[in-house]
Amino acid sequence: MDIFETIHTRRSIRRYLDKPVPRELIEKILDAARWAPSAHNRQPWRFAVIERVETKHALAAAMGEKLRADLERDGAARELIEQDTMRSYQRITSAPVVIIACMTTRDMDVYHDTRRKKAEFVMTIQSVAMAIQNLLLAAHALGLGACWMCAPLFVADTVREVLKLDADWEPQALLTLGYAAEARTKERVALDLRVKFLDADERG
Ligand SMILES: Cc1cc2nc3c(=O)[nH]c(=O)nc-3n(C[C@H](O)[C@H](O)[C@H](O)COP(=O)(O)O)c2cc1C
Repeated sequence: MDIFETIHTRRSIRRYLDKPVPRELIEKILDAARWAPSAHNRQPWRFAVIERVETKHALAAAMGEKLRADLERDGAARELIEQDTMRSYQRITSAPVVIIACMTTRDMDVYHDTRRKKAEFVMTIQSVAMAIQNLLLAAHALGLGACWMCAPLFVADTVREVLKLDADWEPQALLTLGYAAEARTKERVALDLRVKFLDADERG
């Protein structure tokens, strides 16, 4: 696959075959992630890889409890609460590999004013997102499926606690990974609805 085909045909995959992913493929995918660009080349990404069923269950159960509490506070219907928590639990536990993508500000520049502090923080997040995109594309190029799930952002402390992550690892995303058991299609809005060539008039 050339890079454009890889980019165009990658889809978020949420159902996986019950087939393990060889460790060397996982490492190859993570290696692609670490070659992403990052602010000051500080590489503020950290990845926690989970393959053991027990760890996935512990994580999914703890995250599910928090999700349930949030939905109860929202006053959601009992049926919807059960549906959402069950779906989240199943998604996490049925994926052969779960990767928690984290960011750390440990090596980033330190500022004392809010404006620059915020810019540096955003750059840290942007850098991790770049690494995740590399990871998703590399997985696809190797014949695997993956999906980015945002849930850890809502329950970062729980994820850190259950997985005993270092205090400075801030969970940003949960990535499921495995051999696809579904084919997905997805559309994008037309390019001209998202892009403005600012000098178009001058060029005629
Ligand atoms: C920041 C971010 C958060 C996402 N969170 C979720 C999620 O929690 N659950 C999910 O099923 N997909 C999630 N996705 C995947 C998107 O739904 C998906 O990328 C989008 O619908 C486009 O589909 P495609 O990736 O198949 O092209 C997320 C993607 C991004 C970039």
